[in-house]
Amino acid sequence: MNGGAVAIAVAAAASALVVGLATVLAPSGEASGPAQLAQAAADAGGYKSEPVREFKRAGKMSGYLFATPETQRIQDDDFENPSFLWVDHGEQMWTKVEGSEGKSCLSCHGPAAKMRGVGVTYPKINKETGKLFTLEHQINYCRTERMKAPELKWETTDMLGIAAFVMLQSRGLPYDVAIDGPAKPYFERGEKLYHTRRGQLNLACIHCHQTNAGNYLRADLLSEGMISGFPLYRLKWQRIGSIHYRMEECYGLVRAETEPYGSEELTTLQLYLAWRAGGLLSEAPGVRR
Ligand code: HEC
Ligand code: HEC
Repeated sequence: MNGGAVAIAVAAAASALVVGLATVLAPSGEASGPAQLAQAAADAGGYKSEPVREFKRAGKMSGYLFATPETQRIQDDDFENPSFLWVDHGEQMWTKVEGSEGKSCLSCHGPAAKMRGVGVTYPKINKETGKLFTLEHQINYCRTERMKAPELKWETTDMLGIAAFVMLQSRGLPYDVAIDGPAKPYFERGEKLYHTRRGQLNLACIHCHQTNAGNYLRADLLSEGMISGFPLYRLKWQRIGSIHYRMEECYGLVRAETEPYGSEELTTLQLYLAWRAGGLLSEAPGVRR
C-alpha cells in the first residue's frame, strides 16, 4: 500500500469513528453544543505537548523505529493520529460529573495538566490498598471510592479515553517506575514472567522482543516490545488499545491461554515492561500498523 492509500484508509476509518463516537459522546438529556464542548475543553486544562521526536535512549528503541514511514507520519501529526478521537472523549470525561458524590475528576484534581508526570510512574503501589495499580485501576479506584460512580470496563471508549487523556499529559517524559520496597516482589515476578516460555509455541516474551528484535515474524518486523507508545492506535485494530490488549495478542501469537485485562499477571508484566523502557520518552498515544 502506498502512503496515499494508507492516508485515505485512515481518514475513512477516522470519520467512521467520529460518527460512532459522537453517539457515545452525546449522553441523552445533556446539552452538548459547541459552546459547552469548548468550555469543557477549557476546564479540562490539558498540557499542550508536541509529538515526541526522540525514540532511542540508553540503547533502547521504541516500536516507532520499527514502523513504516507512513505509520510514523500518522503518529507525528496529532491531527492525523486517530487516537485523538479517544483523547478528546477523555478530555470531556475529565469534567463530567458522575456518581452520587456529584464530582468530576476536575473537582478534586483541577486542570488535567496537574497530571503531568503521573502516567510514566505507573504501574505503582497504591498507598491505600497496598496493591499494584495500573493507571486504569487507579482511575476506577477514584470512581468507585471517591465519586461513588460505577467502574469503567477495560477497553471501552470511556476507559481508553480517560486513560489516554491522562497519559497524554506525560508525553515527552521518560518512563520512571519504582521497583523497590513494596513493588519489589511484583517486579521480580514480572521479570520471571517475561522470561517464562508459554503456549503451544513455547516461547517467552524475550525470545521475540530481545533475541529476535529486528527479525521478521511472517509479515511483522519484531520490535523490542517497548511500552512507550501505549495506549496506542493500531491500524489493524481500527481502535486504540491498552498495553494489556497488546499483551493478549502476544499471548495469542504463541497460542497461550489469555489472561483477563487488569489481571495481576498482566499488571505485573506491565511493571517489568515499564522498568525495561526506563528512560524512553512516553509517546502515548502512539500509532502502529
Ligand atoms: C512469537 C513472538 C512474540 C512473542 C513471544 C511475544 N510477542 Fe509481543 N509482539 C509480537 C509482534 C509480532 C508484535 C508487533 C510488532 C512489534 O512491535 O514487535 C509485538 C508487539 C509487542 C508490543 C508493542 C510494541 C510497540 O511498540 O507497539 C509489546 C509491548 C509486546 N509485544 C510485549 C510482549 C510481551 C510482554 C510478551 C510476553 C508476554 C510478548 N510481547 C511476547 C510478537 C511476540
Ligand atoms: C473526591 C476527590 C477525587 C475525585 C473526584 C477523583 N480523584 Fe483521583 N485522586 C484523589 C485522591 C485523594 C488521590 C490520592 C492522592 C493523590 O495521589 O493525589 C487521587 C489519585 C489519583 C491518581 C494518581 C495520582 C498519582 O500521583 O499517582 C490519578 C491518576 C487519579 N486520581 C485520576 C483521577 C481521575 C481520572 C478521576 C476522574 C475519573 C479522579 N481521579 C477523580 C481524589 C479524587
